[in-house]
Amino acid sequence: MSRIPVGVLGATGAVGQRFVQLLENHPWFEVQELVASDRSAGKPYREATTWRLAGESPAATADRVVLGLGDTLKSPLLFSGLDSSVAGEAEADLAVRGHAVISNSRNHRQDPDVPLLVPEINADHIAAIEVQKKRTGGGYIVTNPNCSVVGLVMALAPLHRAFGIESAVVVTLQALSGAGYPGVASLDIADNVVPYIGGGEEEKIETEPLKILGQWDGKAFEPARMSLSSSVHRVNVVDGHTMAVFLRLLRKASPEEAADALAGFRGEPQERKLPSAPAQPIHVLSDANRPQPRLDRDRERGMAVSVGRIRGDRVFDLRLEALVHNTIRGAAGAAILNAELLHARGMLPER
Ligand SMILES: NC(=O)c1ccc[n+]([C@@H]2O[C@H](COP(=O)([O-])OP(=O)(O)OC[C@H]3O[C@@H](n4cnc5c(N)ncnc54)[C@H](OP(=O)(O)O)[C@@H]3O)[C@@H](O)[C@H]2O)c1
Repeated sequence: MSRIPVGVLGATGAVGQRFVQLLENHPWFEVQELVASDRSAGKPYREATTWRLAGESPAATADRVVLGLGDTLKSPLLFSGLDSSVAGEAEADLAVRGHAVISNSRNHRQDPDVPLLVPEINADHIAAIEVQKKRTGGGYIVTNPNCSVVGLVMALAPLHRAFGIESAVVVTLQALSGAGYPGVASLDIADNVVPYIGGGEEEKIETEPLKILGQWDGKAFEPARMSLSSSVHRVNVVDGHTMAVFLRLLRKASPEEAADALAGFRGEPQERKLPSAPAQPIHVLSDANRPQPRLDRDRERGMAVSVGRIRGDRVFDLRLEALVHNTIRGAAGAAILNAELLHARGMLPER
């Protein structure tokens, strides 16, 4: 079987480079088209991109000429790491042209017929695509959450299912790669913590989990009923967002019961053994000083979320620390897992 041709939108950026890297030897998908801005279009990928990931830029894509958003694309499946200033319109247009667009950008996450998908948690939300296709005439958009939200919601979902979450407070310590390149100026972040992240970061953290943990009723998404509060910080770490999470539960649970619910959590990607699925989506760590970004972000090729320090709390019921690799499980890897699930369910457009 030949591999499915795919395109990467925003291929020269931080998330785009991760797509190109993670798709290099993918068993089902093969990168055929690379798209970026007019600054890059017309140049070979190696020239248009300053490769910022460890190792070489994949040889198979190095000489491919970068396309612009105005070019006609042939790939049925498009991964998007487009800047949010252009992603909204571009992704909607490509869906109308019949492509499946699997997006990292924030623009369409809250659209009423667009799944905000974390395959272990809400694979059933894929049903919204049928409603969306009636609107677009063929193609569709599926989004993955904000990079912090993936780590947060993976920690919340098993606890919500087992005990019910009434409310949660999250304090994030977010890595520099989350801001793309060049991101935060070195003189602003060296020897420093910045207690602000633009682009509505706190709003996303407080609203996206409600859609993900909510229900698709056949016509609309019904958000989960819980309240979330967040406070975000940029810290001097390259990759890996850490979160301190404080939880109020509907039914009391001990730290041990919470640890069991988290460690035993599995979903459709594990049942189907999708190529990018972590065997164990949540690694529960018992050492008192873990998770740490440098030591734990690469678990299961960056696709597992680490949770540690699960303990009681004098104000809330439980508190814990969660860690997610922001450009793999929090971005490109999440989108690739979404596409694998769609392919496994036979939902990608015909070539
Ligand atoms: N970084 C993360 O951890 C992360 C995690 C989750 C989601 N996201 C989201 O993913 C998206 C990309 O983030 P990033 O960090 O990869 O940003 P980035 O490094 O700034 O890359 C942006 C990409 O968009 C392209 N682009 C910019 N303006 C364009 C235009 N007018 N037409 C066509 N292409 C254009 C750029 O091409 P040129 O190189 O040609 O300018 C580049 O390929 C954003 O929406 C972001 O919010 C990022």
